[in-house]
Amino acid sequence: MTLPPTLSVENLTVSYPVRAGTFWRPPTFLTAVDEVTFAIAPGETLGLVGESGSGKTTVGRAVMRRVNTSAGRIFFRGEEITQMEGEPLRKLRARMQLVLQDPYTSLNPRMRIADIVAEPLLVHGRVKNTSEARDHVRALLDLVGMPADAHLRYPHSFSGGQRQRVGIARALALEPDLIVADEPVSALDVSVQAQVVNLLQDIQQRMGLSYLFIAHDLSVVRHISHRIAIMYAGRIVEIAPRERVFAAPVHPYTKTLLSAVPIPDPKIQRTRKRLIPLGEPVDLANPPPGCRFQTRCAFATDQCRVTSPPLLERSKGHVAACWNF
Ligand SMILES: Nc1ncnc2c1ncn2[C@@H]1O[C@H](COP(=O)(O)OP(=O)(O)OP(=O)(O)O)[C@@H](O)[C@H]1O
Ligand code: SF4
Ligand SMILES: [Mg+2]
Repeated sequence: MTLPPTLSVENLTVSYPVRAGTFWRPPTFLTAVDEVTFAIAPGETLGLVGESGSGKTTVGRAVMRRVNTSAGRIFFRGEEITQMEGEPLRKLRARMQLVLQDPYTSLNPRMRIADIVAEPLLVHGRVKNTSEARDHVRALLDLVGMPADAHLRYPHSFSGGQRQRVGIARALALEPDLIVADEPVSALDVSVQAQVVNLLQDIQQRMGLSYLFIAHDLSVVRHISHRIAIMYAGRIVEIAPRERVFAAPVHPYTKTLLSAVPIPDPKIQRTRKRLIPLGEPVDLANPPPGCRFQTRCAFATDQCRVTSPPLLERSKGHVAACWNF
């Protein structure tokens, strides 16, 4: 029997109110996520990449049911959770955890590491107090490579990379099926980024959990992702297995992102041209008809300005939305 995807979303749409309505004027909404569809299998990592404001965090918050869905459906391990509330939602939250970008602000500076890691266990009634969670907390801290006395210390005595390890230990405390990692290494030094990514990969191999790994840069998700979804202005423009994104990208936006990824061979790197998109980004409160990338695309034609390109299959598991490629 094949297991259902850990997470799947169908036509997920999220709009934020940006201006209240009056008697004369209807309220204004900004559609941050527009008909997004994807699935993540058990043990799989989907990288979600796009520039600032493309809607990545909103997707992450919507699947964790921390922001309301305006349209579309969300399924967790085969069960629809789009409208889930009350006790079932509370239980669901134990099964999906968030790892945030900034390890300097995401840990309470007044709490000892032991209390920080034990907190989810207390909140979900798995233990009565921190001392009851002691062995479990120590095992978690050991799993993420923290020093033996870490549980007694406070966040300020650790580096950014170590704090992110603590954040990961806390996210793992309830043995979730899914971790939404929203730019988990963007605030860290490049040398430390690889260590944290390796740790996440290691944990996935041991525990078989799934990741939605959000980043604005393809190089960050390259090693950890099985598949990569590219987002632009609220829409997914391409999804493909990792190798296909790097070897045979289809969408002009994916190609621009790819041109920013450094290549280790300096000879090849010197001959490469960084593609900088032209024009202004789309106003999400008032998007033009047609392709969202049209204002920045060197290949836009009349059709692009009128009709939205659908996501079509280009090879097995590789879809892209572009009229001209
Ligand atoms: N609570 C909110 N109210 C109104 N608009 C919002 C809200 N949160 C996000 N937005 C808008 O929705 C769009 C998508 O934001 P989101 O944070 O999801 O993007 P992102 O891809 O995560 O960007 P970044 O890379 O900067 O984190 C942006 O235009 C943003 O300004
Ligand atoms: S559909 Fe047209 S505007 Fe959009 S990316 Fe393709 S060529 Fe460019
Ligand atoms: Mg974000």
